[in-house]
Order: sequence, then C-alpha cells, then structure tokens
Amino acid sequence: MNVQTGFIVLLCLMGFTCADLVKFKDCGSESAKVAMVDINPCPVQPCQLKKGQSYSVNVTFTSDVQSQTSTAQVHGVIAGVPIPFPIPNEDGCKSGIQCPIQPKLTYHYVNGLPVKTEYPAIKLVVKWELRDDNKKDLFCILFPVQIVS
Ligand SMILES: *[C@@H]1O[C@H](CO)[C@@H](O)[C@H](O)[C@H]1NC(C)=O
Repeated sequence: MNVQTGFIVLLCLMGFTCADLVKFKDCGSESAKVAMVDINPCPVQPCQLKKGQSYSVNVTFTSDVQSQTSTAQVHGVIAGVPIPFPIPNEDGCKSGIQCPIQPKLTYHYVNGLPVKTEYPAIKLVVKWELRDDNKKDLFCILFPVQIVS
C-alpha cells in the first residue's frame, strides 16, 4: 500500500464517506473503456452485500461509439454459471447516462443493486454489462462480492 492509498483508507476508517473503488476485471468491453467502478457502501473487498439492503454501483466509462440506447444486463456467476440478477432499471439511459451516447465522452452509469433476503449467503462474481444499439458491450465488468446475513 502506498502512502496515498494508506491516507485514503485512514480517512475512510475515520468515518468519512468514501467512494469505494472496487477491483474489477474487464470481461470484454468493446465499445467503451471503463475507468473505474465504485460501489457504495463497500469498505472491504470483496464487497459484503447484506441481505435486504441496496447498494449503488457507479461505473465511469468513456465511449468509443455513438448509441441511442443502452441496456444493462446483470448476472450473478455462481460456480461458473451465470444467473440473471434483477436490477430496478435496465435502461442505462435512465441510470445516469444522457443518451444518445457520444463517442469520446465520459459517462457515469449509476444503478442500484438490491440484495434480496432470499438470496443465499455465498460468495459470487457479479457480471455487469451495458449494451449499445448493436448489442455490443459498452462495458462488461466482473467483480467479486459476498452476500452476508
Ligand atoms: C459517480 O462517480 C463519479 C466519479 O467518482 C462522481 O463524479 C459521481 O458524482 C458519481 N455519481 C454518483 C451518483 O454517485
């Protein structure tokens, strides 16, 4: 950990509200580049998602294309099998993005991640995709989470 990261962690521990940047893997973003993924609240990684609570996911990306639409698809990957994970709004254009999406512009995609009480308390990988007009991924990201009671 470098000095700067240590300082940020210290501020977070002191109770400042921090944008909790999450380590993610890119799983084939074709028409945009992801700069960062931030989940709130997520003070430790993998993010501990409490049943019955809702989290916010904020993905910052720069588009390479123009697109009238953007549609999100979320899966929970359990033992390699992707299972659809319902989110409140699949329309990216209603999730912080002003459409049409323009090339070279940077957007913040912000959506809720509700964790239902009936979900099992397991570790899994969340796969979050946002597709453009041509059904290509503006972004495809993977991040690990742990569902806790
Ligand atoms: C999303 O993250 C960006 C970059 O940190 C920030 O400027 C923006 O305010 C965030 N949006 C929301 C709704 O939290």
